[in-house]
Amino acid sequence: MPTHESQCLSPADKKISIAPSVMCADLCNLETDIRELEKAGINLLHFDLMDAHFVPNMPIGLVLIEQLRQKTDCAFDIHLMVNNNDFFVEAVANIGVQQIAVHAESAIHLDRTLSVIQAHGIKSGVALNPATPLSAITYVVDRLDFVLIMTVNPGFAGQKLVPATLRKIEECRAFLDKNDAELPIEVDGNVSFKNIPKMVAAGADILVGGSSSVFHTSGSRKENIQQIRQAIAQGLKERDG
Ligand code: DX5
Ligand code: ZN
Repeated sequence: MPTHESQCLSPADKKISIAPSVMCADLCNLETDIRELEKAGINLLHFDLMDAHFVPNMPIGLVLIEQLRQKTDCAFDIHLMVNNNDFFVEAVANIGVQQIAVHAESAIHLDRTLSVIQAHGIKSGVALNPATPLSAITYVVDRLDFVLIMTVNPGFAGQKLVPATLRKIEECRAFLDKNDAELPIEVDGNVSFKNIPKMVAAGADILVGGSSSVFHTSGSRKENIQQIRQAIAQGLKERDG
């Protein structure tokens, strides 16, 4: 069985993780893509699970995640964009995943759903749409292992960054510091070569890489990851400077 060694949740040492978004991979040649990413040092994969209700799309499903679980040791980061969170939490927990984010906007009993995720021994996160205020996590901070800030409206790859979300990353970092919560911030949506330095400088720790970075058509997966690492270094310099 895979060991799922993941160093993705350690902001203390300023390690920034890259989480390629599987929906943006070449789904007809997925195993080839995964091997290339592993060779480039990737150990975390982001899965966008959509139900065509919470968001009007459905790019990948449970069977694909289940089959891929047998093929790689990478940690699985599940981003639920669904109305029935409890059904999907159970389903992916049974597959064996390492972290799950549920949207604050769809979770009716958010505190309970996060507790269920943690009871499975899985890291729990809350995802926030661009327009959702940070106050949505105020009373669940103790239940969180990470926060997922959506930097586009969820559902589709290839969108443009919602500019106000850069300020939101900064405010989220300040909010977490104020609450003595040393949690990583994951960012998702148009995490491009150009936006990465700004996102990292603002406080992002986990970068979901989609069509605008990891799977950008201008380079190979390896070249794109190298370019992302350079952008991260630039962002860290700004953060520390
Ligand atoms: C958006 C998805 C993202 C998307 C990001 O709902 O959650 O994972 O794939 O990729 P790009 O870089 O295309 O915005
Ligand atoms: Zn996502």
